[in-house]
Amino acid sequence: MKGIILAGGAGSRLFPLTLVASKQLQPVYDKPMVYYPLTTLIESGIREFCLISTPHDLPRFRQLFGDGSHWGLAIEYREQPRPEGIAQAFLIAESFIGRDSVTLILGDNVFYGGDGFSQAFSEFKGGATIFGYHVNDPERYGVVEFDAQGRAISIEEKPKTPRSNYAVPGLYLYDNHVVEIAKNLKPSARGELEITAVNVEYLNRGQLRVHRLNRGFAWLDAGTSSSLHEASAYVQTIEKRQGIKIGCPEEAAFHSGFLSLHELESLTAKIPKCEYRDYLGALVAETKRLKP
Ligand code: G1P
Repeated sequence: MKGIILAGGAGSRLFPLTLVASKQLQPVYDKPMVYYPLTTLIESGIREFCLISTPHDLPRFRQLFGDGSHWGLAIEYREQPRPEGIAQAFLIAESFIGRDSVTLILGDNVFYGGDGFSQAFSEFKGGATIFGYHVNDPERYGVVEFDAQGRAISIEEKPKTPRSNYAVPGLYLYDNHVVEIAKNLKPSARGELEITAVNVEYLNRGQLRVHRLNRGFAWLDAGTSSSLHEASAYVQTIEKRQGIKIGCPEEAAFHSGFLSLHELESLTAKIPKCEYRDYLGALVAETKRLKP
């Protein structure tokens, strides 16, 4: 399965921060925001990525990640000239997807905890898999409604009167039909190719699975100044308490077997002296201690 990270949009709600860097490059505590979704996919075993952003911001992402080979990844880049919807990503990345299945993650979605995702990835065989997460303000999101048996029966984009409190987070798994489905979409009232329309199509075909994410799972929003601050505080609290990092791509690549211990050690040595380097250094030392 291939991975798309969509990091487009004007980020106007974060003005003036976005005069300096795009939304997905803003810090969430100790790392750029995009590190978190990238890490989520690496932890799920994804190794080949296509990062999509605006023509203006794409060079910065390229500088940040390069071709990804230093982390044992392969990262390609594509431009989304105008914010014409999440589902446009499948048209922009068509040649990257090829004949594979594909997962798409939004560059501003920060997830932490549980094993809800790894199970969904390992069980994925075809159709579409999306997630449902209980929130206080479902009208801001795609909203999924369940019947008494827990089967999804409707999905609506930002409904004025939501039929449930279950929002659809920005992580989606699709078989290769998603490209053909995206090609047949018509722009919505807000002029976008809606990801919700893709999910509705899979629902109508009887090929949509919706995993409900349980209580022990955090899905953080980082799209406004105050939610960005709260996301940073959350990450800091967990990292300080547990001594483990959230959203560390090097660590995830090592655990997923994309980087050897030797490779992790030599890339750690190239990081300037800082807390991040100390963290990776401790991971190397601990691994050697356990498996000398
Ligand atoms: C988008 C999707 C929405 C989804 C949300 C998750 O919303 O359209 O269905 O729930 O991402 O972050 P937008 O970022 O356009 O507000």
